[in-house]
Amino acid sequence: MSNNQVQIFDTTLRDGEQSPGASLNIDEKVEIARQLERLGVDIIEAGFPISSPGDFEAVRRVAATVSDRITICGLTRAVPKDIDVAWDALKGAKRPRIHTGLGVSDNHLQHKLKKTREQAMEIGVNAVKYAKSLGCEDIEYFTEDSGRADKEYLYRVIEAVIKAGATVINIPDTTGYMSPEEYGALFAGVLNHVPGSENIILSAHCHNDLGMATANSLAAVKAGARQVECTINGIGERAGNTSLEEVVMALHTRRDIYQVQSNIVTTEIYKTSRLVSTLTGILVQPNKAIVGANAFAHSSGIHQDGILKQRDTYEIIDPATVGISESKIILSARSGRHALRDRLSKLGHEFPNDTDFERVYARFLNVADSKKVVYDEDLDAIVSDETSTAP
Ligand code: KIV
Ligand code: ZN
Repeated sequence: MSNNQVQIFDTTLRDGEQSPGASLNIDEKVEIARQLERLGVDIIEAGFPISSPGDFEAVRRVAATVSDRITICGLTRAVPKDIDVAWDALKGAKRPRIHTGLGVSDNHLQHKLKKTREQAMEIGVNAVKYAKSLGCEDIEYFTEDSGRADKEYLYRVIEAVIKAGATVINIPDTTGYMSPEEYGALFAGVLNHVPGSENIILSAHCHNDLGMATANSLAAVKAGARQVECTINGIGERAGNTSLEEVVMALHTRRDIYQVQSNIVTTEIYKTSRLVSTLTGILVQPNKAIVGANAFAHSSGIHQDGILKQRDTYEIIDPATVGISESKIILSARSGRHALRDRLSKLGHEFPNDTDFERVYARFLNVADSKKVVYDEDLDAIVSDETSTAP
């Protein structure tokens, strides 16, 4: 893999499905996996096989369904039983990956795991060795709650699990606690202080508790991460995970800053977003970047005038790039003459005479003041009324 290639690791089916109320059945998971394949993701984290027979079966079915190009990953705790079950679920995959790991913050060690730092490190190292002993060549290790961990300890854990055979190190900001500056510096710190880190892939895995998951993931890429873990529409535990569409389009639109590329087929983004929203029942907020209903909608007269003269006056992304056929001009009381004339013309109503047009415009404003959006049917009615009562 070249150094300017970023792997997109999709965890919609695992961390995304942990969103309250999002649960998917096996067929739905397979349908999403097929769409993720068309989208061009590099790795699909298909589930947590030991968590339930349904998740085991979903991982098995996804592994048997998608193209051999894609790595299929199963999550495990750092215990042999989990690793055995995940390895079994992954046996139909051409490229199987075990994703194992353990907490590294003192908070997690003391309250959740009830282990000392040394004990936890030994458990993690043994888990990696165990996965390797089964014949797994692609082992990703997660250092849970890295964002609140002591850095020296984190470095030691990463060095030890690399020596044990980990090929990808996931440094999650599990609680969405970090700022972009801190998260970027964490990756730079690992690359500077951990022997062997230059030979493996460092992965960003962010949660959105402070609304910074995308910014944090991008900071990690800038500092050397070459895998980003994300979900469609940013679904996931609590405030969600890094949203795939935001990271991919930021890398694409601001290649000048990030200077990396991904394999994502951006024109499949909107379709994938719709599918995940429909199957999980989780609605996409209208102002959501890239895939929200308003992401390419223009409402004020000044913006509409600009867009109609030249699209990029107010759009940094051509909607076709993400699979949306065109931008929307929303006619409302904030719209101006230019947008109204343009829409009337598209509806087949031409007004070469300015006086006639002004009458229609005045009627339009009256209607617009009484409702949020003026629809094409409203315009047809205004025009038909004005034409029949014209002096
Ligand atoms: O957020 C997190 O730390 C995780 C790990 C299990 C990878 O999802
Ligand atoms: Zn997570």
